[in-house]
Amino acid sequence: MTAPTLDTTTAAFFADPYPDYARCRTDAPVLYDERLDVWMVFRHDDCQAVLRHPATTVAMRRAMRLRPEQQPLRMARMREAMAGGPFPRPSLSVYQSDPPAHTKRRRLLGAAFAAAGADRLRAVADREAATRLDELARRGRFDVMDDYAFPIHTAVIDALVGFDHDDEGRALVRTWSDQAARIADPDASAAVLREGFAATAALERHCAELIEARRRRPPPAPTDVASSLLAAQRDGAGLTDDEILDQVVLVYLAGLESTASLIGNAVHALFHDGAALERWRREPDLDAPAVDELLRFDSPVQFTRRVPTAPLAVGGHEIPAGSFVITWLGAANRDPDRWGPDVDRLVLDRPGTAGALSFGGGIHLCLGAALSRIEGQVALPALLRRFPRLAPVGATVWNERVMLRGVRSLPVATEG
Ligand code: HEM
Repeated sequence: MTAPTLDTTTAAFFADPYPDYARCRTDAPVLYDERLDVWMVFRHDDCQAVLRHPATTVAMRRAMRLRPEQQPLRMARMREAMAGGPFPRPSLSVYQSDPPAHTKRRRLLGAAFAAAGADRLRAVADREAATRLDELARRGRFDVMDDYAFPIHTAVIDALVGFDHDDEGRALVRTWSDQAARIADPDASAAVLREGFAATAALERHCAELIEARRRRPPPAPTDVASSLLAAQRDGAGLTDDEILDQVVLVYLAGLESTASLIGNAVHALFHDGAALERWRREPDLDAPAVDELLRFDSPVQFTRRVPTAPLAVGGHEIPAGSFVITWLGAANRDPDRWGPDVDRLVLDRPGTAGALSFGGGIHLCLGAALSRIEGQVALPALLRRFPRLAPVGATVWNERVMLRGVRSLPVATEG
């Protein structure tokens, strides 16, 4: 009998990974992929246990020290991508650091998010959604991602981070973040890695220019992440220059692709369940639970990862220290043992979905969760209620990414 595997490179997987997850949850809930040298965990309780386990790291240098022969195929592809040049400097972002550095960076980044103000960002989302909807009503046909999700979300992330992009700048940043996001995919080719590293470097230069501009002319009361982190640095208890740069780049990368995809994935799912769509249009009380259920149903972030620093017992297996472990949040969120037998259905008021693993868990739980929920609660009901006959006029095209799964294009008509 051949060992079960998960092929994350097929068109079928990109269009709908959930049948593959279901097979793995049953046949190999804790799977070692020998080719990739990666462990994969599919069940809700196992994913949660790994994410919350204190004896884990997310810093790849530390993982390499624990197990120097780490992921040989990926390492060979990285060397090919770098064409003999040096590997990029390891990121100092919260997502790639452990305590105690993580604790300090996360506290300061959290404070910067708080200074940005949820109400101010909600107002940006509201305003942008209203402007877009007026324009789209005139046009009648549009693309959910290009013409609605990305414009709203880029406006919010720009306001959070401190950018003031014009349309051209936004398009450029969107291309970079799309390419950079592919680096995380477990089976990324050398060509994808090369493009992703170049895009990350371009995004870093762009963010460094913003930080320099804010350093030269600090606002009187900082309301954006770049200015807040610089203000803390001036006060003497802040982050280094490299740490500030890496947090700003991370917020851009983590924020831009994920929340735009929340909107696209949700509209796609609702088009396949007309009863749920109609119900949400009629019942404004569903705005908050529906967004959490849609995040459970088809999360824009399909996995996250940890590396155990000591042998880790999960689901009857012992994962060796230093192994790269993928926790499949998308699979955990469809685990019938956690969610019941109707797990593949949209139930907009399903209880408990705020505790789904869509935003990860443990000390790395997503810092943007509250903001993403706000945006979903603004953008989705506004679209559905403004256009009661909204319907697709072409096939959904997926972005063919594994970790940051999302719709690339979803053409619709307001009088479909
Ligand atoms: C629907 C949208 C989003 C989803 C589904 C999502 C999901 C996630 C997930 C799964 C993680 C990893 C958690 C872990 O490893 O346990 C994460 C981390 C993170 N996310 Fe999000 N995210 C979203 C939007 C955002 C936004 C809008 C921002 C910022 C504006 C953001 C900022 C972050 C940061 C800074 C981290 C790293 C936290 C840490 O390592 O301490 N995310 N997110």
